[in-house]
Amino acid sequence: NTQFMELTEQAYRIQGVALTDLAQKYGTPLYVYDGEKILNQVKTLQEAFAGVNLKIKYATKALSNINILKLLKGAGTGVDAVSIEEVKLCLHVGFLPQEIMYTPNCVSFEEIQEAVQLGVMINIDNIPMLEHFGTSYGGDVPVCIRLNPHILAGGNAKISVGHIDSKFGISILQLKHVHKVVEAYGLKVVGLHVHTGSDILDADVFLKGAEILFEAATEFKDLVFLDFGGGFKVAYKPGDIATDMLDVGQKVSRAFQQFCTAYGRELEIWFEPGKFLVSECGYLLVTATVVKPTPATTFVGVNSGLNHLIRPMMYDAYHDVVNISKLSGPERVYTIVGYICETDTIAADRKLKEVQEGDLLAIRNAGAYGFSMSSNYNSRLRPAEVLLLEGKDYLIRERETFADILRNQTDLVF
Ligand code: LLP
Repeated sequence: NTQFMELTEQAYRIQGVALTDLAQKYGTPLYVYDGEKILNQVKTLQEAFAGVNLKIKYATKALSNINILKLLKGAGTGVDAVSIEEVKLCLHVGFLPQEIMYTPNCVSFEEIQEAVQLGVMINIDNIPMLEHFGTSYGGDVPVCIRLNPHILAGGNAKISVGHIDSKFGISILQLKHVHKVVEAYGLKVVGLHVHTGSDILDADVFLKGAEILFEAATEFKDLVFLDFGGGFKVAYKPGDIATDMLDVGQKVSRAFQQFCTAYGRELEIWFEPGKFLVSECGYLLVTATVVKPTPATTFVGVNSGLNHLIRPMMYDAYHDVVNISKLSGPERVYTIVGYICETDTIAADRKLKEVQEGDLLAIRNAGAYGFSMSSNYNSRLRPAEVLLLEGKDYLIRERETFADILRNQTDLVF
């Protein structure tokens, strides 16, 4: 397994820090992020694309704590934002407008105008918005166009977004219409974008996306960059295979260089990884509140649930679970469930070191789409977040309090 959690000196540790100590210091449920792992992933990606002019646009939505954004900024990445709030968050931490790509879907034109005023690159996802854009700005504001490449790929239906029935992007079958709009308004199209889906293992899918981008790109004369989206697969299960980044880097870079030669200009190549950069860095630490044998199975109930990590329920996602309170001893099969009033199974039929009430469990791969998709369902509080850097732990978000549940609710007197 490529993850950094190590079992040494009587504890599961990250950067030498025992996870059980963090749980004791900050309480549970607790999100813990390994900052060094994030920096390492950035480096891996940069090395894989060393031969081309790579710009990483981190998919902010995966994990949007401002300190994670700052860490990535320090590592030299830009960002992809999908809401005006994410754009503002990225500006807030110091990303320059030109480092921010705004990739909205089905937002109002007013929101796009606000983003233009903030100076970020706009990625247009449909023809009506392209027309509004033309009417308002003509060729004065450079723009990127998101194409739907009609490729069916991705870990499951909910995260497969580049196929013909998907709501995302402008169909490549509508390119003629796009060109009419571009010509009518004199639009300056500086980028083309595709994003096929999430959890994509195979270099061939990226190559197929590349071919479609290249073919479309020959018809646009002002291009500065081509954006291949995100979607690299990470390892979730022990023994799982992740995208071979070096392989993808070599193959896509070679094809990209050939295209640039034919195009007559060196372009920038953009990627928008979320999971690849922050999935494996994250651990959700929870406490076993009850061990409940039934005639069918033995449940371990924990003080968390779909309100903190919705991926198992939403995508049937596999998250590895480790009993970090037990370093040795017998193993048993458990189904780990949350405390939410729903069937919020976190992990079914897993072998764990024998669990007792009060034991601490670490749920792995909780960095991407963990906290960022969390909620207050059942009026529960969201966890604190801790970042580990150079062996030191930093609280990067306070645990919510009951006051947060009441915040923004008006209190009518009947
Ligand atoms: N770029 C665009 C335009 C996207 O829509 C996405 C993800 C990404 C980049 C980043 O994809 P990544 O590298 O993280 O796979 N919540 C789901 C994943 C949905 C992602 C939606 N868009 C999950 O937890 O599996």
